[in-house]
Amino acid sequence: MEPTDKPIGIFDSGLGGLTVARAIAKELPSESIIYIGDTKRCPYGPRDQAEVRLFVRQVGAWLESRDVKAVVIACNTATAAGLDVLQRSLEVPVMGVIEPGARAAIQATRSRRVGVLATQGTVDSGSYVRAIGMLDAGVRVTQAAAPALVEIVEDELVSGAHLHEDWMSDKAIFDTPAIRAATRAAAAPLLGRGIDTVVLGCTHFPLLAPEVRSALGDGVRIVSSAEETSAELRATLDRRGDLAPAGVDPAYRFATTSDDITEFAVAGSFIFGHPLDSIEHVDLEDLEALTDCVGTGEGE
Ligand code: DGL
Repeated sequence: MEPTDKPIGIFDSGLGGLTVARAIAKELPSESIIYIGDTKRCPYGPRDQAEVRLFVRQVGAWLESRDVKAVVIACNTATAAGLDVLQRSLEVPVMGVIEPGARAAIQATRSRRVGVLATQGTVDSGSYVRAIGMLDAGVRVTQAAAPALVEIVEDELVSGAHLHEDWMSDKAIFDTPAIRAATRAAAAPLLGRGIDTVVLGCTHFPLLAPEVRSALGDGVRIVSSAEETSAELRATLDRRGDLAPAGVDPAYRFATTSDDITEFAVAGSFIFGHPLDSIEHVDLEDLEALTDCVGTGEGE
């Protein structure tokens, strides 16, 4: 198959990466996508970096076996732990979401004080601080770990009852008093520091953007990496001559390690903005068996 005809591989620890997949489908409407959510092992955020690196290698090898032309790690935690490992292991271009998120933040800030709301793993890795510092060493970064928000998003999505009703509406579906309070608590370390831009450093958090915005107040801009990542992906494919020709009908395929495909379909369709028609279940044993196919990626 020619690279122009091959799909783009996208992965996340679960459903949140579909916020990035949605932006990619919008930016590159002729490109086919194969998305895998490692839902059974979600969340990655509280896990040890070495463990997440192993998962990244496994899921990356699975995408490689599907003959993708590029891989997007649509998960900040996985990017922080394993972007370099996967770039060394695979032949195709591999992109993460942290550098694009950092770029979006430094382009938006005027006060040059930026906040990062992310998982514990991403905060502990210091990846955003490094990425922002590489782009503008004068920008001050304050990080806040918000593990509770990942749980809220996953729980609300999988409980799913209200999703049909609000399907693709712009309603803030997570707008309950408890969620508002949890979001305020998570965002509190970012207040009173002159921060004018906050990067949503977790691909689940764009789903909570209205709540984060109200917790931070109107003067703070919220940026996420989805659009910037999509633009970077377009530029990469374009320079390589790998873009699908305009007007081609894309194929969207999905896979999950979850045992509940229906749950993934309902919540995923809501986030992706299209029905998830084609979903396959991937056994964790099959992913684990791929570990040896990709090498360690460490210093190879
Ligand atoms: N999607 C992950 C991220 O962007 C968060 C969820 C998790 O902890 O697995 O960091």
